[in-house]
Amino acid sequence: MALPWALAVLSLFPLLDAHSPTCTNFSVPITNATLDQVSGKWFYIASVFHLPEYKESTKKIQAAFFYFAPNHEEDTLLLREYTTIGNQCIYNSSSVKVDRENGTLAKFAEGKVHFGYLLLPKDPKTFMLAFPEDKQNMGLSFYADKPEATKEQMEQFYEHLACMGMDKSEVIYSDEKKDLCEPLEKQHEEERKKGERPKADTV
Ligand SMILES: *[C@@H]1O[C@H](CO)[C@@H](O)[C@H](O)[C@H]1NC(C)=O
Ligand SMILES: *[C@@H]1O[C@H](CO)[C@@H](O)[C@H](O)[C@H]1NC(C)=O
Ligand SMILES: *[C@@H]1O[C@H](CO)[C@@H](O)[C@H](O)[C@H]1NC(C)=O
Ligand SMILES: *[C@@H]1O[C@H](CO)[C@@H](O)[C@H](O)[C@H]1NC(C)=O
Repeated sequence: MALPWALAVLSLFPLLDAHSPTCTNFSVPITNATLDQVSGKWFYIASVFHLPEYKESTKKIQAAFFYFAPNHEEDTLLLREYTTIGNQCIYNSSSVKVDRENGTLAKFAEGKVHFGYLLLPKDPKTFMLAFPEDKQNMGLSFYADKPEATKEQMEQFYEHLACMGMDKSEVIYSDEKKDLCEPLEKQHEEERKKGERPKADTV
């Protein structure tokens, strides 16, 4: 648990007005180009979750970064994530299923499906995951290629938030200064150079 982007609502068919013209087009098909764009290293910047359970989990995340490695044939993304919770680094790797047509990313964990709509704002150095459920359960999370987003990037996030009917005051931010995962990432890089794979990668 505690995957910032995967702290999603569990129902498989939410689609609350997913095509609402007044707001984001949530269901934008995912192409090979999209997968290439989200490939690489990302930092979790901020999120809002209305579902109390996920809101609580999000509050515990001090910092997080992760790598996406796409597999175009299988429509999956290999996710390797480094999350700092309770002054501890937790590493996990898993496979994320891409639904190209619906524009969703789905993750299976603890017997449940967690999924979100992939949103690519104008700035290719960021992306968002939207959980357009009803008001009580909705959520939006924001990622950037640097541990700190620029003012302009944050504005894009706030715009999407407002559009979904959520408030800036609800935003929970990560704090890169609290990140404790850098040494583990370095260690994994070293292992890679030596041709070894981090154990959890084989999951
Ligand atoms: C995604 O699209 C498929 C058809 O391609 C459909 O069967 C499924 O219900 C959709 N799922 C969601 C979550 O919209
Ligand atoms: C939303 O996405 C669908 C599917 O790609 C597309 O047909 C439609 O034109 C889009 N609507 C807007 C307002 O962008
Ligand atoms: C996406 O990439 C896969 C693997 O390279 C390829 O087989 C497929 O044809 C590509 N799809 C499109 C629409 O280009
Ligand atoms: C790691 O991933 C597995 C499989 O998805 C999941 O069951 C487990 O809860 C995750 N652990 C953490 C700390 O995220």
